[in-house]
Amino acid sequence: MKEIKINTDSRNYPVLVGTNILSENNLKEFSNKEILLVIDSKIEESVKKEVQITLSNISLKYSELTIEASEENKSSKTLSIIHDLLIEKSYSRDCILFALGGGIICDMTGFAAATFLRGVDFVLIPSTLLSQVDASVGGKTAINHPKGKNMIGAFHQPSKVITDTKLLKSLEKVQIREGLAEIIKHALIKDEAFFKWLEENIEDLIEGNDVKLLEAIYKSIEIKAEVVSQDETEQGIRKWLNFGHTFGHAIEVYGNYKRFSHGEAVALGMIMATNLSQKILNLGKKEIDKIKQLIYSILSEELLKSEFQPNDLVRLMSADKKKKGDSLNFILLSSIGEAQILSDIQESDIIESIKLT
Ligand SMILES: NC(=O)c1ccc[n+]([C@@H]2O[C@H](COP(=O)([O-])OP(=O)(O)OC[C@H]3O[C@@H](n4cnc5c(N)ncnc54)[C@H](O)[C@@H]3O)[C@@H](O)[C@H]2O)c1
Repeated sequence: MKEIKINTDSRNYPVLVGTNILSENNLKEFSNKEILLVIDSKIEESVKKEVQITLSNISLKYSELTIEASEENKSSKTLSIIHDLLIEKSYSRDCILFALGGGIICDMTGFAAATFLRGVDFVLIPSTLLSQVDASVGGKTAINHPKGKNMIGAFHQPSKVITDTKLLKSLEKVQIREGLAEIIKHALIKDEAFFKWLEENIEDLIEGNDVKLLEAIYKSIEIKAEVVSQDETEQGIRKWLNFGHTFGHAIEVYGNYKRFSHGEAVALGMIMATNLSQKILNLGKKEIDKIKQLIYSILSEELLKSEFQPNDLVRLMSADKKKKGDSLNFILLSSIGEAQILSDIQESDIIESIKLT
């Protein structure tokens, strides 16, 4: 087992990374606490039992709630269900919430913790590759609003993150590919050597090779940890983590959150952001080919045939930013491992970049 330290202005905490690490040893510091465990309905039975038994044995008071993870359920209604339970069972400010699930359960449990009694502690046990390398690190918590994704949220850092690759065993292959999209993103914005390693190992990673996945997860969390430790509330370099996301969020809306998962939309968005990097920052042809090759290898042929009306996608991007009160920023690459934040990009350049070739 390895430990990565996240040091932010508001809190320092460890991310434990390993296989079979959900033992009491790594949870005993939460003994004699009031615990609520929020569980993703798709967690494999034996893993769920292990966590349930450990937490119920060590706690002073224990409850659990199972939630079906969907963007529709990442809502104020589900948030109220969590808060209602805490209030009905008289949980105090000293309680601690545990999330055992993917990004949706982690984001929502984190936001429930951020808002209950003006903020209580929480622990994340991320269960998808995407949530292990991205959503569980950095303290962004949120729920959706009918008008937009993650519109209601807070920065609230967890007390601990336990990243156990055992949980990945029950994932579909496509979910491994979604997580790989965010791993590739981390390499592209900050680490050329890691990008090369990914090129060499991508087939094993797609096949779910345990040893290689553990290495990729560890490296990826290290990169995210370094970025969020320098810029907890996204005033500067944390924006780099949005590489591919300006296009990606619009792609998610374009597909009504049904046609493309978050990871798939980010992968497609990274292809478009690479095209834009060529136009705006003269990203070299050789590097562009390598980037696209790696991204193509994690996407299905069907996804790569997706077509988008460029004007519609630009409209969705602008609407999203307007709602969030941001300007339309793009994270672009000057080379592999070197990211920059740019605004004021001409619409015609954005439109020309909306293609998957
Ligand atoms: N907070 C952040 O910094 C951050 C970063 C990236 C993404 N996100 C958010 O994370 C969400 C996407 O996360 P995700 O990709 O984990 O999706 P998800 O939480 O929707 O999980 C995807 C699916 O996998 C299932 N699942 C979860 N764990 C499983 C397991 N071990 N075995 C089998 N099935 C399992 C879920 O029930 C769901 O059906 C989005 O809402 C996105 O906005 C947040």
